[in-house]
Amino acid sequence: SIPVILDCDPGHDDAFNILLAAAHPAVELLGITTVAGNQTVGKTTLNARRVCTVAGIEGVPIAAGMAGPLRGPGIVAPDIHGESGLDGPGFGEPTVPVDGRDAVTFLRDTLRAHPVPVTLVPTGPLTNIAAFLLAHPELADRIERVVLMGGSTGRGNRTPAAEFNVLADPEAADVVFRSGLHLTMIGLNVSHRALATPRVVARVRALGTPLAGVCAELLTYFGDAYREVFGFPAPPLHDPLTVAHLVAPDLVTLVHAPVAIELTGTHTRGATVVDLDGVTGARPNAYVGVDVDVDAYWDLIVDAVRTLG
Ligand code: BDR
Ligand code: CA
Repeated sequence: SIPVILDCDPGHDDAFNILLAAAHPAVELLGITTVAGNQTVGKTTLNARRVCTVAGIEGVPIAAGMAGPLRGPGIVAPDIHGESGLDGPGFGEPTVPVDGRDAVTFLRDTLRAHPVPVTLVPTGPLTNIAAFLLAHPELADRIERVVLMGGSTGRGNRTPAAEFNVLADPEAADVVFRSGLHLTMIGLNVSHRALATPRVVARVRALGTPLAGVCAELLTYFGDAYREVFGFPAPPLHDPLTVAHLVAPDLVTLVHAPVAIELTGTHTRGATVVDLDGVTGARPNAYVGVDVDVDAYWDLIVDAVRTLG
């Protein structure tokens, strides 16, 4: 199985990525690190614990990470994810504990100790990953690959040019995209094809378990927010495309391309400039998602909720 650390800011779609990683037999989930993004790091950490508690995911360490970007002020997304970062269902007091170590220390310890290189799966701002690479360059070869949700080959969502996770910490994204690591980027150009339609929500709800009910409520809240803010007919479930790609490599179509992070643009800071046509002559530094098998994706998501029971 594939040893994985999720680095996330749950977040409705992050929550489903935790479920998929915990449920799928091809993944060995070594830990979850949290970061400020959709909400403050205090809230995203609480939410990771809530998700693990409601899904019965035990023994997976949860380590809290950076409270804000490498440089400048942070942004949060209460318009999409609510004040809690995971609005919709009610959650009881989480029983799953938080690890005593911060995210960078947890990454250091885990990558040092694990017998084979580990896959990192960031689905929030890249602050923790960049901070780790800057603090521990000697451990870069303990990273098998990075499969992240962020950016876009086209338009953004937080600005016309920038996607939320990259805009929230462009300097961190720049560190990661220039790291030389094996990088896979799944962005909005793919995730906006993966809409959790009423049919998908009905399939989840029909599983009939308490977890399925929570999942259906998460998707319903997320859908209402996307309808109000963006006029979408249904919500795109961005983040689980990462683990879905790991366990089903053909599910997302990739192209090898040069990607640069815009750090200084007047109107375009945080843009992922993807050279799909090879016009820059730059060396490809990322495998970039360009298409997805949507039906296979929803089967994986529904199976994960069923497996966790
Ligand atoms: C990304 O931003 C967050 O709101 C989602 O969780 C996802 O990671 C989409 O732009
Ligand atoms: Ca996220």
